[in-house]
Amino acid sequence: MCGIVGYVGKQQAVPIILEGLKRLEYRGYDSAGVCVQNGRKLKVEKKAGRVDNLAKKIARHHLTGTTGIGHTRWATHGGVTDANAHPHLSSDGKFALVHNGVIENFAQIKAFLARKGYTFRSETDTEVLCNLIAYHFAKEPAVKGQSRFLESVRKTLRHVEGTYGIAALCVDFPEEIVAARKASPLILGVGDNEYIIASDASALVSHTQNVVYLKDGELVHLTPSAFTLSTLDQADVSPVVDTITWSVTDADKGKYPHFMLKEIFEQPAALENAMRGRFAADGSTANFGGLNITPAEFATMERFMFCACGTAWHACLVTEHLIERFARIPVEVDYASEFRYRNSPLDPRTLFFVISQSGETIDTLAALREAKRKGHRVMAINNVVGSSIAREADGGIYQHVGPEIGVASTKAFTSQLLIGAMVALYVARMRDMSFSDGVQYVNALKSAPDLVRQALKLAPRIKAIAKRYAKFHDMLFLGRLSLFPIALEGALKLKEISYLHAEGYPAAEMKHGPIALISKKCPTVFFAPSGELFNKLVSSMQEIKALKGPIIAIVTAGAKLPKGLADEVITLPDCHEAVLPIIASIPVQLLSYYIAVERGCDVDKPRNLAKSVTVE
Ligand code: F6R
Repeated sequence: MCGIVGYVGKQQAVPIILEGLKRLEYRGYDSAGVCVQNGRKLKVEKKAGRVDNLAKKIARHHLTGTTGIGHTRWATHGGVTDANAHPHLSSDGKFALVHNGVIENFAQIKAFLARKGYTFRSETDTEVLCNLIAYHFAKEPAVKGQSRFLESVRKTLRHVEGTYGIAALCVDFPEEIVAARKASPLILGVGDNEYIIASDASALVSHTQNVVYLKDGELVHLTPSAFTLSTLDQADVSPVVDTITWSVTDADKGKYPHFMLKEIFEQPAALENAMRGRFAADGSTANFGGLNITPAEFATMERFMFCACGTAWHACLVTEHLIERFARIPVEVDYASEFRYRNSPLDPRTLFFVISQSGETIDTLAALREAKRKGHRVMAINNVVGSSIAREADGGIYQHVGPEIGVASTKAFTSQLLIGAMVALYVARMRDMSFSDGVQYVNALKSAPDLVRQALKLAPRIKAIAKRYAKFHDMLFLGRLSLFPIALEGALKLKEISYLHAEGYPAAEMKHGPIALISKKCPTVFFAPSGELFNKLVSSMQEIKALKGPIIAIVTAGAKLPKGLADEVITLPDCHEAVLPIIASIPVQLLSYYIAVERGCDVDKPRNLAKSVTVE
């Protein structure tokens, strides 16, 4: 959580930093601030509230300077106040710091610094870190050929426990920034005699597509004409400059009122990108370039374990269903946050997978490390290229869906479902699935983008339904088999963006408790696709009807519901089992979106939530 941006170059820093902070607001938006180096002074402006508040405040003051840092905050230490907003200044006024992460030993450091006469204006761990830099700077001797600024930051970070992505300014070193990372993302944009450091590429892609992904434990020292990379142990690092393959328009809302709606409508293209080049020439199986495990090794695996958080965990559940159904290999799914502490016994022939859009979710990263520590190979299904999870995994599959900015995950989720379905196919074809079944499966996956396009045409009808249901306070989502996780996902989407209470259950579990909730005040979104369980689903719906519960049924074309059973019927095209969860996600995404809009909620920035959860 939190987004940081720093600029050094020939242009005015503030407009570039503000533009970057706007793009990073999905990471935190309770307060924002900037600091520019202006001659021999550090000038700070910061304010509780959104970046726009800060921009209005800055417009009244002239904040000029070609070197600066900025921050958009998601409060972890200290309440949401102007004083707690970043950047923080050291008490001697020499340093300014922005920080994303948590300093775990800040209380001891604060007590130590207080004894040395340092004072604090905020409740944050960041101000403590900033003062520790000042403390080391005061003690640091000037050594020829070394930057005293860089060395004092390096020394400070050696004493710090916890996580950080930081960028610092020093009043004695105009036109310089020192930045560093440990477990919080940081990317350097390499321009023409200018550099931008940011938590995420969306903050810099309008200026340059050439980037260096900083690794954990690395520091970067920036001046307008050069940058150097080094480690906490003072070893030089040769930078690898990568090129971002997407452009700034991918990170804009375009004609859409919200990123979430834009990303919902991007799903056909996102699915095409996620599967491009990933089918074998004979058209009967999937093909992955980055697994770093041979098909022969893969075939020896006797069990899979999937870990993730939130929406990505729902993608794990669908993948579990498809792998067990088509490949007949046992799969276990766990919340990453539970797995990391559970000390679960794992057979050596277990292949471990994590799924994470951002690749920075701290619990998922910790689960990956725990699995590696136990000697397992870990594969990552991940969207953000160069993320911590992508780098630490032994192999993986990129989602290739471009930046997902809306806090509520949509296109990343359906592409995870698609990739999960492809993994199931890949393993199934190594085992019992026939060539012709494989071809049929591949063709079904290839039809997914068109089926999603058809489902998206239901948007006006779903919008009208949302208007009728936005006034309710509770909602149930029921589904079976691979649609049970989609029921969970529908409930999560509704909760997170419209603040309604919603729960997802396997439809047949209803009678074991949730049925007590049914009344005319609690509608049920019921997945009832055609298939062998259809009659059982109809019976469950009849029970709800008898209790006067309103029903929004999501069916497929071949499913003929008794007349009058459901209050609303949303009909999706019939499709292959591997594709059904993807298609069934569309109406629940749209329903949550339109209900949230109808209730006047801030869809892209739901309260209490940030896009990537990089603290425990
Ligand atoms: C919900 C949502 C979250 C994320 C979860 C994991 O819409 O987006 O539940 O799925 O925080 O995030 P990643 O996938 O980045 O690890």
